Amino acid sequence: MWLIQLHVLFVLLSGFGFFMRGIGHLRGEAWVQKKLVRILPHIVDTGLLVTAIALLVTMEISPLTDWVLAKIIALLVYIFLGVMAFRVAKTIKAKALFWLAALIVFAYMFAVAKTYSVFPWIPAVAVG
Ligand code: HEM
Repeated sequence: MWLIQLHVLFVLLSGFGFFMRGIGHLRGEAWVQKKLVRILPHIVDTGLLVTAIALLVTMEISPLTDWVLAKIIALLVYIFLGVMAFRVAKTIKAKALFWLAALIVFAYMFAVAKTYSVFPWIPAVAVG
């Protein structure tokens, strides 16, 4: 479905952008302070959220479904870690740790999306 593809496109843009900004910050690059670089993630993340909500509505999935709830909570944690990494943390070490933790949470959200499981690292047991 095109809406899922659009959602995944925003997901990939968001992840790639976050990864690149992290490298930029850790290397002290000037481009990370550019207005466009600071605004673009908000546009991408808004697209991500809008497509996510549109998917829930069109596919009639409750936001309280366990794997959806896991994604929503993980997204809030990801945003929090991103703010810590790029705004609050002052030392390179702290920035790197928050950035890495956010990337792990991102990978978790991806795995949850692919497996529809809150614990994607546990293999599904076939029933019947
Ligand atoms: C918290 C807000 C989010 C909600 C409510 C949401 C909801 C959804 C829904 C309903 C689908 C379609 C599932 C299906 O095919 O049955 C989907 C697909 C997907 N989502 Fe999200 N999503 C959210 C955020 C994210 C984030 C942050 C990521 C990645 C880090 C992500 C990655 C994916 C991927 C990769 C798919 C496609 C899975 C497939 O291959 O079928 N989503 N999402």
